[in-house]
Amino acid sequence: MKRSFSRRGFIATSALGTGGLLAARTINLDPYPLTFGKQKVSPSDRIRFGIIGIGMQGSGLLAGAVSLPGAECVAAADLYDGRHTLAKEITGNPGLYTTRKYKELLDRKDIDCLIAAVPDHWHKQVVVDACDAGKDIYCEKPMSHSIADGFQMVDAAKRNNRIVQIGSQRVSSNLCKKAREMYTAGAIGDIENVELSLGRNDPTGAWEYPPPTDLSPATLDWDTWLNDAPKIPFNSERFARWRCWKEYGTGVAGDLMVHLISGMLFTLGWNEHPRSATALGGIFRWKDGRNMPDLHLVLFDYHGVPVFVRLGLGTEAPEIARFMGPKGIIDAGEFNLRHAPQAGIDLAPSYYDSGFPGKMRQEYEAKWYAEHAPKLGQEPINQEVNYSGHDWDDMRPHILNFFEAVKSRKPVVEDAVFGNNAAIACHMANESYFRGKTVYWDEATNNIKS
Ligand SMILES: NC(=O)c1ccc[n+]([C@@H]2O[C@H](COP(=O)([O-])OP(=O)(O)OC[C@H]3O[C@@H](n4cnc5c(N)ncnc54)[C@H](O)[C@@H]3O)[C@@H](O)[C@H]2O)c1
Repeated sequence: MKRSFSRRGFIATSALGTGGLLAARTINLDPYPLTFGKQKVSPSDRIRFGIIGIGMQGSGLLAGAVSLPGAECVAAADLYDGRHTLAKEITGNPGLYTTRKYKELLDRKDIDCLIAAVPDHWHKQVVVDACDAGKDIYCEKPMSHSIADGFQMVDAAKRNNRIVQIGSQRVSSNLCKKAREMYTAGAIGDIENVELSLGRNDPTGAWEYPPPTDLSPATLDWDTWLNDAPKIPFNSERFARWRCWKEYGTGVAGDLMVHLISGMLFTLGWNEHPRSATALGGIFRWKDGRNMPDLHLVLFDYHGVPVFVRLGLGTEAPEIARFMGPKGIIDAGEFNLRHAPQAGIDLAPSYYDSGFPGKMRQEYEAKWYAEHAPKLGQEPINQEVNYSGHDWDDMRPHILNFFEAVKSRKPVVEDAVFGNNAAIACHMANESYFRGKTVYWDEATNNIKS
C-alpha cells in the first residue's frame, strides 16, 4: 500500500528536522572511587573492624574495606584455616589475629564493627549474635535464609539499636542514585512495569566452583559449617558449591535476583515485599545433583505493579533492570544507565485511516496536520541519554556507607528492614517454584501462603 505520509516516513523526517529521537548523548557520572585515597584520618575517626567469613566474597570485602581511609582489620574468623592465611595475605599483616570461633570477635572491645560474608544459612545466627553483643554488622545478601530468620534479624537490630547494613552493594552506586533521581523527577512518569533479567552460561557462573585443594576435616570445622542443615559426612563440594542446595543457599533468587530487586526498590523509592509471586523453572542444564533451579522465571505483584524476572544459568544474557512508564524507559546495567524518553503521542495521522475511502482519508489527514503538526521551533525533542558510571558491583561505596553510619549513628542505605523486604521476594519466588503455584504474602502471620 502506498501512502503519501507513512508513519515511518513521518518519524524519519521528524528525527531529522522536527523532533523525534535524537542520537544518544553520554554523560559520565562522578567517579567517586577517586575520593577513596589514603587521606589522613584522625585517631578518633579510625574504624577497627573484624571479619567473619573470608571466602570468595569476604576476600573482596576485606580488600575493599582495608583500602578505605582509616579502616583497619584487627581480627578475622573463618571455619576453614586456609582463609586465615588468606586474611593475613590481604591485610599484609602476618600477625593478624585469626580464629575459627567468630564469637571471640564479639567479645573484643577493640572491635567497632563486623563484616560477615558467610553462607546464607549462617546469616541469621551471626547477625543476631553480633547485635546482642552490641556490635554493628555489615552482612552479605540475601539477608535471610528463611522468612522467620529475616524477622528475627530485624528484631535483633531494633532491640539492640544496632546498625545493620545488608550487602547488595549496587544501592550505594552512583548509577542507582542517578536512576532514583531520574525516576523521582518524573523521567518516565509513574512506573507501569519492571523487567529484571540476567543469564550465565558457564560452570563457574552456575556455581560449579573448585573446592580448595587442602580442604579436609582437619582444615575445616565441618560440623559447625553445617549449622542447622541436616548432618552429613564431610563433603568438599557442598562447602564450595553450597548455593546449589536449598539447605545452605537460596538459589538464583537469593544469590542473583536479590541484587536486581534491591536496585529496583532503591530506584523506585519502595521499601516493601511483593503481594504475590508466581514462578516457573527447573533444572534444565546443570544436572549435577543440585536441588535449586537453574532457570527461574517469576512474576511479582508489587502493590499492583507487575515485576517480571528472568534468571538463567543456561544462556548468557546481560544483567539489566528495565523500568517502563508512560514517558519512556530507564535501562539500568552494570556500567550504564540509559534514559529513552517517549512522548506518548501520535506523531502522524493514525494508520487506521488506511481503511478510510480516499476523500475521507485526505480530509482526516489534513485536519490532523492542522491540529497536531508541531509548529516551527516548537518541535518535541526526545533525546536518549546514557549515563556511564563506576561499576555498580564495587563494594567500597557500600562499606563506606556502613563505616560512616557506625561513626555517625545515622541510618545506612540498606538496613535490616530493607534487606528483609528484598529477601522475602527471594523466598516467595522459591516457595512458588517448589509449591508449583502462586504464593501470597499473609500480613496476619507475616508469612507466605498458597
Ligand atoms: N554482594 C555480592 O555481590 C556477593 C557476591 C558473592 C557472594 N555474596 C554473599 O556472600 C556470602 C558468602 O559467599 P561466598 O561466595 O564468599 O561463600 P564462600 O563459601 O566462598 O565463603 C564463606 C566462608 O564463610 C566461612 N564460614 C561459614 N560459616 C562460618 C562460621 N559460622 N564462622 C566463621 N566462618 C564461617 C566458610 O568457612 C567460608 O570460608 C553469601 O551470603 C553470598 O550470598 C555476595
